Amino acid sequence: MFKESTIMQFDIITIFPTLFDSFKDESLIKKAEDKKILSIRAYDVRRWAEDTHKTVDDKPYGGGPGMILKIEPLVKTLHSIKRKKRCRVMLLTPGGIQFNQKKAINFSKNYDQLIFLCGRYEGFDARIKNYIDEELSIGPYVLNGGEVAAMVIIEAVARLIPGMIGNKASLIEETFQIKDIIEYAQYTRPEVFNHQKVPKVLLSGDHKKITEWRKKHQKRVKK
Ligand code: 6GU
Repeated sequence: MFKESTIMQFDIITIFPTLFDSFKDESLIKKAEDKKILSIRAYDVRRWAEDTHKTVDDKPYGGGPGMILKIEPLVKTLHSIKRKKRCRVMLLTPGGIQFNQKKAINFSKNYDQLIFLCGRYEGFDARIKNYIDEELSIGPYVLNGGEVAAMVIIEAVARLIPGMIGNKASLIEETFQIKDIIEYAQYTRPEVFNHQKVPKVLLSGDHKKITEWRKKHQKRVKK
């Protein structure tokens, strides 16, 4: 029988697929693709447009400004790229539920395929909501489209996939607390920069003291 591969598949449905070219070639993502840990594909929804003009948007019924993404090409794209059982379809919109670290962990653990539908212009035909699992936003502000939001979510999820990051310890230290992400101040050479010195204890080689110092200087990342 056909065995489903466990590689994490990130698929983006967009009218600007080239926006993802440099993102995909960024070193960590590229290395992970080479190692068959993940795969990122941006699909141009225009490919599934039905008419000769490759129309993907139209005027809103009832009037009003702007253009609305048509439903047929979006649904056709979705149907032709869905290929895994553990698949989740996300609609990216400023009105969605806010993405966070807890969701990133959930996605990395429980899915093999994440599909991101990116909006543009004034929005989508509302009927698309029957074809998605979740509406997501990345924060309380409005972007021109969901493309940058997709990159944010992909990066947050991808780095949690086993084998993705070189340094496992740093991942554990960063994420053991979801509610309050805790980090401590870090330094590298030079020892003195513009009269600012690196704390002496960090140069001491005394790991017990260093751990104590780091605990004392933890900072809670504000949300
Ligand atoms: Cl997912 N899309 C758009 N257009 N704007 C946003 C967003 C998404 N998240 C925050 N602002």
